[in-house]
Amino acid sequence: MDIHEINTIREKAIEEVMNASSPESLESVRIKYLGRKGFLPSVMEKLRELPSGTRAEIGKIANALKNELNVIIEKKKNDFQKEKNKPQEVVFDYTLPGSWRGVGSKHPISIIIDEVIRIFRQIGFVVANGPDIETSYRNFEALNTPSHHPSLDESDTFWLEDGRLLRTQTSPVQIRVMEKYKPPVRVITPGRCYRRDTMDATHSANFHQIEGLYVDRKVSMADLKGTLSYFVSELMGTTVELRFRPHFFPFTEPSVECDFSCHLCSGKGCKVCKNNGWIEIAGAGMVDPRVFAKVGYPEDVTGFAFGMGVERIAMVKYGIEDIRHLYENDVRFLNQFV
Ligand code: PHE
Repeated sequence: MDIHEINTIREKAIEEVMNASSPESLESVRIKYLGRKGFLPSVMEKLRELPSGTRAEIGKIANALKNELNVIIEKKKNDFQKEKNKPQEVVFDYTLPGSWRGVGSKHPISIIIDEVIRIFRQIGFVVANGPDIETSYRNFEALNTPSHHPSLDESDTFWLEDGRLLRTQTSPVQIRVMEKYKPPVRVITPGRCYRRDTMDATHSANFHQIEGLYVDRKVSMADLKGTLSYFVSELMGTTVELRFRPHFFPFTEPSVECDFSCHLCSGKGCKVCKNNGWIEIAGAGMVDPRVFAKVGYPEDVTGFAFGMGVERIAMVKYGIEDIRHLYENDVRFLNQFV
């Protein structure tokens, strides 16, 4: 029995402890080295036969080894216990349907705006934008709307304390475009509008319009009708017809309201067209020369403008009965447009 021999045994014992793969095999390693008839007790036994100098030295080493093995065996035991207490590993069930992270989609209002822009881009219109907060001048006066006009009334318009307002229509963008660019212009301007309307199935205080403006020399009412006919057939299908009804807007003269024949009943009358056969789609007209004068355009230009409600188009196109569906963002509603 010498130090070298004990060291060899030590390395072997540590290795066996480390490699023990179960509490049972760990226990047999423990018995093998530390048990009553194990290796270390037998070393202690043999100490007696050694000369006293070596006895003390070997005794010390054997004791240290005993302590060391006790510590690592205890630790390994704890590790097994921890492992046992761990929650059972979840077995993956390949037959379960996969979990699906929903992919976002376009809101119907955006779908319509994108579609309208696409249609007008094909015939050379470009998109122009203006701010939601407008001057009273661009929303009303420059559009030839006299200051006694009822729409200036506080009951219709959201006025800000500084005298500006939330635009009631996208028509002020016409003014912005003409202030900035010389004729010819051909723009389409989608945007939010605001009116003091009480919310119901067909009204909202915040809605969207798309404005169109075409100014050049010799632009006529026939161009307006041709342009809107093309637009409606692209949007609703080639079988729909377009008609003009006389109307009034302060900034167009003459002014019209445009209807298209109901795409669902072909004019016979149904729920969507309210048994009318026709569906109103836009207000329009030839730009009033007074508006051209406000923006300093030459006298020989002519042009047409039109404005339509995006929510209205969405409701007609998709058969939505209540405008509020478009704002509530109920996914059961929105999922239908994916
Ligand atoms: N701005 C008008 C409205 O809100 C619509 C319109 C636009 C009419 C352009 C004529 C020309 O009702």
